[in-house]
Parts: sequence; structure tokens; C-alpha cells
Amino acid sequence: MMILVTGGCGFIGSNFIRHVLQSRKEIKVVNLDLLTYAGNLSSLLDVEKIFPDRYQFVRGDIRDKEFLRGVFETFEIDSVAHFAAESHVDRSILGPEVFVQTNVFGTFNLLEICRKSWPTAESMRPKRFLHISTDEVYGSLGTSGYFTEESPYLPSSPYAASKASSDHMVHAYFHTFGLPTLITHSSNNYGPFQFPEKLIPLMISNAREGMPLPVYGDGRNVRDWIYVEDHCRALLQVLEKGSPGHRYNIGANCEKQNIDVVNLICNYLDEKLGLLEGRHRKSLIRFVHDRLGHDKRYALDTSKIKNALGWKPEVAFEQGLRRTVDWYLDNPLWVKEILDGSYMEYYQKQYGDRLNER
Ligand code: NAD
Ligand code: TYD
Repeated sequence: MMILVTGGCGFIGSNFIRHVLQSRKEIKVVNLDLLTYAGNLSSLLDVEKIFPDRYQFVRGDIRDKEFLRGVFETFEIDSVAHFAAESHVDRSILGPEVFVQTNVFGTFNLLEICRKSWPTAESMRPKRFLHISTDEVYGSLGTSGYFTEESPYLPSSPYAASKASSDHMVHAYFHTFGLPTLITHSSNNYGPFQFPEKLIPLMISNAREGMPLPVYGDGRNVRDWIYVEDHCRALLQVLEKGSPGHRYNIGANCEKQNIDVVNLICNYLDEKLGLLEGRHRKSLIRFVHDRLGHDKRYALDTSKIKNALGWKPEVAFEQGLRRTVDWYLDNPLWVKEILDGSYMEYYQKQYGDRLNER
């Protein structure tokens, strides 16, 4: 069986490829990635070495229909695990257009090529199109309640709206053409190989270096965290055992206020590395101007995937956070390579004025 993974050089995609190749000897993976600022070949160096016969990388753009046609002509693809996306809310506020192009049109192109390439004959090996979506399509919660798979869509950011649009298209291809699609809505992931523009790796990198820790608003917004390896195990189970046409929430029932997450990171770094010139790293926290349209709270009801597929998370938050901090401390080169010119340009645009404001 051959899986085409799109966006496999990104955070979750690279963890997913590693998990699939380690746990399923019969599966081969083709990784299709454009290598945008968020894609990093060095996240899969071990995979290239350990699984040369079962892993292949192809550089290309999901917005390019001709390129996709070539990929489907070259490889006999059984399943698609579609991760490729522009994924950062703050960037979608600074420049939304590429989010529509990649997340909406790119997904549409993939659906079209699958519809045209995959024969429907019963005798053919089963096909699956797994679309990796987010809990952010449901919008924001107040202080109580949970999103279920039946919750209405109410995306707030351009990122969430682009993911919601692609979800609707995926569902339409199931409903109209019978394409065997699956949609997953995961909560916030954390773990190794996450680009240091997202909350947890950004705070680890800055706190380690003694740089300011920019917390948006009052720091009381709530995210529901899941360790990336738990998410990847869930995705493989959905791909193998999920029912076409269905959607599954994936989360670890782990709600935290942002400020509590940042404090935990600071405490753990102080414990591991000692104080920073006699100061606790918490002293680096700066409450900065809030994100536009900042969603207050996300929280997922995950009973469907637990009951239907028997999946459950295995990594507790403090354990996962410690593993994550350790990984970043042990892999300074991976981080250094990323903190190149183009990232620092974004950092300056996003935080330059905010850090001077309050
Ligand atoms: P990421 O930004 O780390 O990686 C995205 C990858 O997609 C990169 O390797 C990039 O090079 C590639 N890519 C971007 N545009 C492309 C294009 N036009 N053609 C081919 N490749 C392209 O993202 P991530 O955090 O790993 O998220 C993966 C998926 O999971 C996304 O679809 C995201 O919406 C979803 N998701 C993420 C989270 C999270 O917490 N990170 C939570 C829920 C859902
Ligand atoms: P993020 O990691 O960008 O994920 P998402 O916006 O998709 O949930 O942000 C997580 C939370 O952390 C969110 O409430 C915004 C907040 N945040 C900060 O307070 N400071 C930061 O520098 C960043 C990147 C995020």
C-alpha cells in the first residue's frame, strides 16, 4: 500500500511519516512538499536513512494541477494523507491570500486528481482521502461546552475559514462523487519539529535565549493541547479503520490557559538550565497587544473516535511538554537552521512594535 503524504516536511506530517514507517512494514510513503518556510527536509533525515526503500520525497506544489497529474501517473497511490497547508493564524492575518490559494485551491486540486485517477471498481484496492483539519473551523467557545463533530462551522480567522472551505469541498466530493474521504479535527498540537512561530516552540526558543516572551492580551485564552505522536497514532487509525464520509475530533482533553503553559515552560527551563543571570525566566513575560479576532477557547469532545476506533491519548501534558523542551534543547541546529533571514523578517513584522507597546 502506498500513501501520498502532502506537507510531510512540516511539523505534523513529518511526525506522521515517521510513525507510519516505524509501525507498518507493508506501507510505502511518497512525501509531496513544496518546502515553504515551514517545510524542512532535515526533519526527516533519520527516515531517509532508515527506510530508503519505503520512503520517497517529491518536491512540488499542490496548487499545480499538472504536477499533481504527473505524481499520480508515476506512483500507484492508494491513500492520500493531506497535511499540506498554510497553518499559522498570525500569518493569515498579515497575508490571507496564500491561505486561500493553498488551503482551498490546493485541496480542490487534490480532490480532483483523486476523483479522476481512482477507478471505482469493487476489485480495486481500497482508496482513502484523509483530510487533516482543525478544531478552529468550529469557531470559539465561551467558558463552558465542547465542540462535537455535529457543531456548526463558525471559523473566525482567515486560516480557519480557509480550512473550513476545504472541509466543505472534501465533504462534497464524498457526497457527490462517492470519493472515500475522512476528515479529522485536531486540537492544538505540540512536540518535536514544530516551527518556532507557534506558541510552545516560540516560548521555548525565546526563554532559552533570554528574549522577551510575548503573551497576547491577558494570556487567559484557552487551547486544548495534544502531543503530536498521539495525534499521529489517531490519524493512522482513522485512515485504516474510519468510515468514509465521517469526521473525527482528535484531542487529549487538556485545556490550558496560555499563561499557564508559558509559566510551565519557564519553570522547567529554570530547573534544567538554572536561572538566567539570577532571574527566573517568568520575568521575560510581556503582555502584548492582542491578536485580531483572537478566539477565546477551544475544547473538543472526543468520544466518537474513542468509542468507534478505540483510540485514546497516551501522553500527559506535563510529560509531553518536558519531552518537547528536552527535544528543542537537544536539537539546537534544527532550530538554528530555521531562524534564517525570512523567519526573522516575519518575527520583526509580527512582534517588533508589539513588544515596545505595553
Ligand atoms: P506546518 O506549517 O508545520 O507544515 C505545512 C507543510 O505544508 C510544510 O512542510 C509546507 O512546506 C507544506 N506546504 C505548504 N504549502 C504547500 C503547497 N502549496 N504545496 C505543497 N506543500 C505545501 O503545518 P502543521 O502544523 O504540520 O499542520 C499540518 C496540517 O494539520 C495542516 O493542514 C493544519 O491545518 C492541520 N492542523 C494543525 C494543527 C497544529 O496544531 N499544528 C492542529 C490541527 C490541524
Ligand atoms: P498558536 O500556537 O499560534 O496556535 P492557534 O492560534 O492556532 O491556537 O497560538 C496558541 C495560543 O497562544 C493562541 O491563543 C495565541 C497565543 N499566542 C501568544 O500569546 N503569543 C504568541 O507569540 C503566539 C504565537 C501565540
